[in-house]
Amino acid sequence: MPSGRALGLAALATSIALANAQTYTLADNFTGANFFNGFKYNASAIDSNNFGNVHFLSQSAATQANLTFIDSNGHAIITVDNTTSGAGDPSFGRNSVYLLSNSPLNIGSLLVFDANHIPFGCSVWPGFFTQGAIWPQQGEIDIIENVNLATINQYSLHVADTCNQPASAAQQQSGKTTSTNCTVVPSLDINNGCIVQETQQNSFGSGFATAGGGVYAMQWNDQGVSVWFFSRPNVPSDISSDAANPNPSNWGLPSAFYPASGCDPTTVFGPQFITLYIDICGAFAGAQSVFEQTCASAAPNCSALVQDPANYADAYWDINFLRVFTTGNNSAGPTTGAPSSTGSSGASPTSGGSASGSGSGSGNAATSTISSVKDMMMVPVAAGLFALLAFMI
Ligand SMILES: *[C@@H]1O[C@H](CO)[C@@H](O)[C@H](O)[C@H]1NC(C)=O
Ligand SMILES: *[C@@H]1O[C@H](CO)[C@@H](O)[C@H](O)[C@H]1NC(C)=O
Ligand SMILES: *[C@@H]1O[C@H](CO)[C@@H](O)[C@H](O)[C@H]1NC(C)=O
Ligand SMILES: *[C@@H]1O[C@H](CO)[C@@H](O)[C@H](O)[C@H]1NC(C)=O
Ligand SMILES: *[C@@H]1O[C@H](CO)[C@@H](O)[C@H](O)[C@H]1NC(C)=O
Ligand SMILES: *[C@@H]1O[C@H](CO)[C@@H](O)[C@H](O)[C@H]1NC(C)=O
Ligand SMILES: *[C@@H]1O[C@H](CO)[C@@H](O)[C@H](O)[C@H]1NC(C)=O
Repeated sequence: MPSGRALGLAALATSIALANAQTYTLADNFTGANFFNGFKYNASAIDSNNFGNVHFLSQSAATQANLTFIDSNGHAIITVDNTTSGAGDPSFGRNSVYLLSNSPLNIGSLLVFDANHIPFGCSVWPGFFTQGAIWPQQGEIDIIENVNLATINQYSLHVADTCNQPASAAQQQSGKTTSTNCTVVPSLDINNGCIVQETQQNSFGSGFATAGGGVYAMQWNDQGVSVWFFSRPNVPSDISSDAANPNPSNWGLPSAFYPASGCDPTTVFGPQFITLYIDICGAFAGAQSVFEQTCASAAPNCSALVQDPANYADAYWDINFLRVFTTGNNSAGPTTGAPSSTGSSGASPTSGGSASGSGSGSGNAATSTISSVKDMMMVPVAAGLFALLAFMI
């Protein structure tokens, strides 16, 4: 017979479940032939942010070179050039792409990414994350990122405001926290991010592909940011194939949880643009000590691998779909110190990037966008270095 106390707990549990119950509707459905219509390609001759050995191609050039295409199964493939030899050219850079979504996510969104293959291999550095147009004032949420022959994925936040992952999160996530302070201070080069390591096997590298891939899902609402990983055999039916009514409250603990008590999700993030790309070497994969963790037997250093296309047979994304669901709570848009004009729908992190050579200090949106996007990509750098530090301790 339930005691009064037990009834009270039951009522509490019910109210928590109700608070978590949200009805999501489909906002974006990038799949098959329409996948690449959801993105713009940020062409850049050099990787000025992370110093990788890559050139980021325009959409037309990348399509021509078959770096992005829809395969015969209807999957979206994103790859680096794996045919060109750079033998004899010490400054050789391999062609790649840097994709940014045309529309941003807002608070109340649930992003579902279903893939069969994540790029991997010695010198390879894939990134799947979201970022505001103004960095770090509008924040960043790293969903898939690691390098070389790492076998597990890492999650992270990078924001300008006070933001920590509280110790209580350890009981609300299945992953392992290796760093709790999400605050970035660019002027002081402080950019560790608050990192959670996935503990499930097959979340990255060859294991991910061998298991048939899987699904990453990121939920951003007024309770915080949660990220789930499901290896293929464990994907919940409400996000499988064409399912249209996801219910995260049925999914169990997320791999990573950043609760509102440590980091206010209504203020630290601006509209988030989905970013998908592949880097080679650079400040994370190419850092000698990071490289040696998993690739010491492959080459004396990362850059020694870049010229040989045979090293890039596994450097590709194979994607079934990317869907964005929303509760429709977009009006609760975060306000930050950043100029609000650039955060409006339709603006993107590179909308100013093509306006070449505008003078600095003009204070217009294009100028601030260029500099912010440039700063932004220092993030994975620091995340990687911090991961290394955590590894060494
Ligand atoms: C791209 O793929 C098409 C069709 O498979 C092929 O004909 C073409 O040669 C490829 N282009 C390059 C640059 O590899
Ligand atoms: C987090 O890092 C920022 C920037 O270094 C610092 O100002 C802040 O005090 C740190 N927070 C905690 C809780 O240590
Ligand atoms: C949506 O907005 C309502 C009203 O402001 C709020 O109570 C609710 O918590 C919000 N839900 C999410 C998921 O942000
Ligand atoms: C997304 O689009 C694909 C292709 O048109 C369709 O098969 C699928 O049912 C759509 N997904 C949802 C959740 O509507
Ligand atoms: C990397 O290794 C190659 C091959 O041993 C060597 O030629 C090159 O100088 C090294 N590069 C760096 C930056 O150490
Ligand atoms: C290059 O990448 C494409 C796309 O992933 C793949 O189909 C092809 O087999 C790869 N070629 C080599 C030589 O690795
Ligand atoms: C986008 O390209 C511009 C120049 O073309 C570059 O300055 C900027 O850093 C790139 N952004 C990212 C995020 O790579």
